[in-house]
Amino acid sequence: MAEERVTISVIKADIGSLAGHHKVHPDTILAASRVLVEAKKNGKIKSFYVTHVGDDLQLIMTHFKGVDNPEVHEIAWNAFKEATKVAKELGLYAAGQDLLSDAFSGNVRGMGPGVAEMEFVERPSEPVIVFMADKTEPGAFNLPLYRIFADPFNTAGLVIDPRMHDGFIFQVMDVYEGQVVELSLPEEMYDLLALIGTPSRYIIKRVFRKSDREIGAVVSSERLSLIAGRYVGKDDPVMIVRAQSGFPAVGEVLEPFSFPHLVAGWMRGSHHGPLMPVGLKDAKMTRFDGPPRVVALGFQIKNGELIGPADLFDDPAFDETRRLAQQITDYMRRHGPFMPHRLGPEEMEYTTLPEVLEKLKKRFKPADLGYKPHAKTGDSGEIHD
Ligand code: F6R
Ligand code: MG
Ligand code: MG
Repeated sequence: MAEERVTISVIKADIGSLAGHHKVHPDTILAASRVLVEAKKNGKIKSFYVTHVGDDLQLIMTHFKGVDNPEVHEIAWNAFKEATKVAKELGLYAAGQDLLSDAFSGNVRGMGPGVAEMEFVERPSEPVIVFMADKTEPGAFNLPLYRIFADPFNTAGLVIDPRMHDGFIFQVMDVYEGQVVELSLPEEMYDLLALIGTPSRYIIKRVFRKSDREIGAVVSSERLSLIAGRYVGKDDPVMIVRAQSGFPAVGEVLEPFSFPHLVAGWMRGSHHGPLMPVGLKDAKMTRFDGPPRVVALGFQIKNGELIGPADLFDDPAFDETRRLAQQITDYMRRHGPFMPHRLGPEEMEYTTLPEVLEKLKKRFKPADLGYKPHAKTGDSGEIHD
């Protein structure tokens, strides 16, 4: 299999779930799996693993067809369609939610599902970690990715492994404008942080090793509301990271998740909460539809075949993180409808603000401020009146 390029594709969608947005029903997992079994039998994909995190059905596939392959995307689309049929039969909640179109047109990107794919020549031993999060957005991976590939206080290898010492290139996507920019770390660290500290807009899409441009990480960047122009579902993200032998060690890749940082996307896509790392058995959403959770499955890829997984956060080493996340959950919840628990008005996926403002329009009277207020510049640089 020398020099053959293998592709790992992680494609996910919320096609309906059990007890509200709590968790995927096993029968929908079965329906999707049947489609992938068939695809494997026909040699269209090499191997697969179907799972779920919260209300998101996750298809992890390997094949030799490259990224954005129409045949592979169609298999995923059909798997979601079949699962949706079952979801409708069972009356599951929000059945078919993330499938924004009825007809497949060659690529699932822009049609609702989230996609992370990478292609590479398999190393003699190829560890990869698939991260899947629910009740959050793709920018939730900005902070951990920065720590993994740029922070020497997280990743010892950046300092002491000659194969990583040159640093990494970060490809950042501006999802409002549909543009990408590449920044070279460590030299451009402050510029990178100036962008990715606004995770709703600037999303780390890919990371490459600087010395040979080998791909190290890829994140799904679909934002459903930006695709559809209105709130239609959630952008719960997935990420693939390669580890070891010149990439960060598995332990260095997992380490940033020991800090349950605040992410957007909890309850009605409109609240900030801590990202709690959990094993698959706890990948279900309860408290205030959350808190946001992330699962990490570790695989080896051998001759294009997925070996595993190892359920990496299913470990007492993350118990204290989970406890801290619960304390943060209590603390944030006590803010009720106030920011910064509730997102800013531009980012909320549910809002009544336009109606409330309209209703109160006539009751707003000029206030005696004693000065004329200036227009305010927002995060995005636009002037808001
Ligand atoms: C869905 C999610 C949930 C829903 C909430 C309201 O992924 O984040 O918090 O937004 O349960 O759902 P609806 O409007 O469907 O009743
Ligand atoms: Mg849902
Ligand atoms: Mg979800």
